[in-house]
Amino acid sequence: MRISIIGSGYVGLVTGACLAKLGNEVTLVDIDNEKIEAINNGLPPIQEEGITEILNQAHLKATSDYRQIADADIIFLCVGTPVSEDGAMSLEHLTEATGQVTRALEGERGYYVVVVKSTVVPGTTEEVVIPILERAGKKAGKDFGICMSPEFLREGKAVYDFMNPMRVIIGEVDKRSGDMLLGLYRNFNAPILRTDLRTAEMIKLASNTFLTMKISFINEIGNISKKLGIDVYEVAKGMEFDDRIGSKFLNAGIGFGGSCLPKDLRALIGKAKEIGYESRMLEETLNLNEKQALKLVQLLQKHISLKGACVGLLGLAFKPGTDDVRDSRAIGVVQALLQAGATVRAYDPLAMENFKKLFPQIDYVTIEKVLNCDAILIITEWEEFNDLDYTGKIVIDGRRIAKAREARIYEGVCW
Ligand SMILES: NC(=O)c1ccc[n+]([C@@H]2O[C@H](COP(=O)([O-])OP(=O)(O)OC[C@H]3O[C@@H](n4cnc5c(N)ncnc54)[C@H](O)[C@@H]3O)[C@@H](O)[C@H]2O)c1
Repeated sequence: MRISIIGSGYVGLVTGACLAKLGNEVTLVDIDNEKIEAINNGLPPIQEEGITEILNQAHLKATSDYRQIADADIIFLCVGTPVSEDGAMSLEHLTEATGQVTRALEGERGYYVVVVKSTVVPGTTEEVVIPILERAGKKAGKDFGICMSPEFLREGKAVYDFMNPMRVIIGEVDKRSGDMLLGLYRNFNAPILRTDLRTAEMIKLASNTFLTMKISFINEIGNISKKLGIDVYEVAKGMEFDDRIGSKFLNAGIGFGGSCLPKDLRALIGKAKEIGYESRMLEETLNLNEKQALKLVQLLQKHISLKGACVGLLGLAFKPGTDDVRDSRAIGVVQALLQAGATVRAYDPLAMENFKKLFPQIDYVTIEKVLNCDAILIITEWEEFNDLDYTGKIVIDGRRIAKAREARIYEGVCW
C-alpha cells in the first residue's frame, strides 16, 4: 500500500520505517528539514535499536512537501501532542498537519483512510480532526475513512514493539475504514480490538495512566517499607507470584518520566477536570511522582552539605536505551542541586547532547570524573553502571544498581 506518515519523530519514523520494511511504499512528511535530510541519508535522527538497518534497506523517502502524499491510501497523523502543566493538551501541530493533509487530498481521487496515531484525549478525532478533514467538502465514513489507532511502542525498544505489538487497537468511524487499516496488520500475530474512535483514544490514556499508578504505588510501598526496614524489592518479588498483579512495573525507584507517561497522565487529569470530574487517584499518582526523585537530594543532604559540593549524576535519559530526556527525573534533581549551591557533573551514554540543551550550565564529563565527585546520584539504570567500582564513594541510588551497594555510604531512594 502507499502510506504517508505525517510527523517523523519517534512514532512516525518507526511506523514508517517498519511499514516500509514490510513492503509498503512509504512517504514521511515533516516540517523539520534537518530530520528530513538525515532520514533521506539513512541517518535516523533518533537513537533506536535496529532503525539504521531498516532505514538503509527499506524503500521510503522523507519530504516537507505535502503534495507528495496526494496518492496515499493510508495517511497516519503522528505529530506531537504536548500537554501543559495544568493538563491542557495542545493540538496546534495536529490541527496544522490535518489542515495540510486536507489541502493535499482535496479534489477528485479514490478512497483513502486518515489514521490518528498521536495520543489525544477522547473526542479529539471526532470533534477536531474530522471537521478539518471535511472542510474539503468530503464526508468522513463515506468519501474517505478515518481511524484512531493509538501507538504503544516503548522508546528504546520501538522497532521491536512495532513489529511485535501486544495488541492493535483500531478505533473506526465505519467498517470500511477499519478494514482498510486492518489490511496493514494482516500478518501481525497480535490480538486486535476494533472499536469506536473515542474508546480507542481512552484505551491509550487508560493504559498509560494505569502504568503510572502501578509505579507510584510501588514507590509508595517502598517509601513506607524503607521506614520499616523492609526491602520493597523483596516485597515486590512476593507480590509478583499473583498473576492478577503481574511482574512488570514493580521496580521501585525515583519514578516515571519520558514523553508519554507524565504527559498522558496530566492529559487525563485535565480532561476529567474539563468535564467537571476531579480524579484524586490520578492527581496523587502525579504528585507522588514529582516528589519521589527529589528524595535523592533529601537523602544526600543527610550525608553531605550541598553548598559548594560536587555531585555526580549517573544517567540523564528518562530510561536506558534512549537519548530522550523529556520529563526525565534528572531535570528536577539537577534543579534542586543547583538551587542548593552544588556543582553538578553528569554522564550519560546517549543523552548528554539533549540534556545540554536544557542545562548548558552543568558539566558533561566521563564516568571517571563523575565517580570522583563528593557524592554520586544514580538516575538511570544503564547496564554499564553495574560494572563500576564504587568502593569508597557516597552513593544515593534511584534505580537499584546492585554493584553500587559496595559504596562506603549507600542508600536506595526507597529501600
Ligand atoms: N514517543 C513515544 O514513545 C510515543 C509512544 C506512543 C505514542 N506517542 C504519541 O505519538 C505522538 C508523537 O510522539 P513522538 O514522540 O513521535 O513526537 P516527536 O516530537 O518525536 O515527533 C513529532 C514530529 O512531528 C513533526 N511535526 C510537527 N508539526 C508538523 C506538521 N505540521 N507537519 C509535519 N510534521 C510535523 C515534528 O517536527 C516532529 O518531527 C504524540 O502524540 C505522543 O504522545 C509517543
